Amino acid sequence: MINDIIPNTKLNNGISMPLLGLGVYDMYQKQAEQAVETALEIGYRLIDTASMYENEKEIGNAIKNSGVKRAEIFLTTKLNNTNHGYDQALKAFDTSLQLLCQDYVDLYLIHWPIKEGRADSWRALERIYQEGRAKAIGVANYTLPFLNELANYSNMTPAVNQIEFTPWMFDKATFDYCKQSHIQLQSYSPITRGIKFTDKRLKGLCEKYQKTPAQIILNWNIQLGVSTIPKSSQRERLQENFDAVNFTLDAQDVEFMNTFNEGFRICDDPIIFL
Ligand SMILES: NC(=O)c1ccc[n+]([C@@H]2O[C@H](COP(=O)([O-])OP(=O)(O)OC[C@H]3O[C@@H](n4cnc5c(N)ncnc54)[C@H](OP(=O)(O)O)[C@@H]3O)[C@@H](O)[C@H]2O)c1
Repeated sequence: MINDIIPNTKLNNGISMPLLGLGVYDMYQKQAEQAVETALEIGYRLIDTASMYENEKEIGNAIKNSGVKRAEIFLTTKLNNTNHGYDQALKAFDTSLQLLCQDYVDLYLIHWPIKEGRADSWRALERIYQEGRAKAIGVANYTLPFLNELANYSNMTPAVNQIEFTPWMFDKATFDYCKQSHIQLQSYSPITRGIKFTDKRLKGLCEKYQKTPAQIILNWNIQLGVSTIPKSSQRERLQENFDAVNFTLDAQDVEFMNTFNEGFRICDDPIIFL
């Protein structure tokens, strides 16, 4: 599956997922379509959308227009916070499929662990998986307390957990738990939307490897075995981010970056939903 440029990871149910993909938050209409078509042309094969992003229709169009075989693309979407509960989640999934113009998605995630309904929503995701309409199911923003809770009632281990994860938000407890439990970690807002590009330690690594800040951070993810989904709507940056797989950070530099943690977040700390 997929292609031989981007390394893949095998999920706990045996299916392959690229370690690098495109996130499509904050892209709308023609811009979203264009970005996905350009990304697929460059060689991206993982597209991460969500009902909340209000661009599922455009992502579906771009996939159709790209000429890339559907089986070669790994498509993720997510359950919106407003659609939790068993029946509501099933209905929301049908709507996402319709908008995306798909019979199935590769991965369906609970977007946030909303307190009211998250257990019932997970049961709905298990049903969707059993029906073969999502090739894998998982969660997002499930830091350790939420994963522990889920393990108490879940019949299936999530295949993926998508969290905010960067050198500056290095959640070692969740990282270790996922590794031990065969849950593939996926990092969102991986390049901190550029905010940490001025970090002097990062700049030093850019000089050493002659790579850009985004490439160093994305390669750090790959070396840790973490799948990552940087967003860009610009061709040059899409290419730059894609090229992050073309070198290898030394193990000691990966370790060094693991020490940057300062609990820095772009998005809300999921703990507010505990
Ligand atoms: N599960 C969740 O709750 C959750 C939360 C947040 C995000 N996500 C997912 O994760 C994806 C990525 O996160 P994100 O969009 O928040 O942040 P990000 O990928 O860290 O950063 C994206 C921003 O950085 C810019 N950028 C991209 N490549 C660049 C480069 N090489 N050099 C300089 N700037 C660059 C983009 O601008 P241009 O577009 O102008 O290039 C955009 O403004 C989202 O699109 C979404 O799919 C999930």
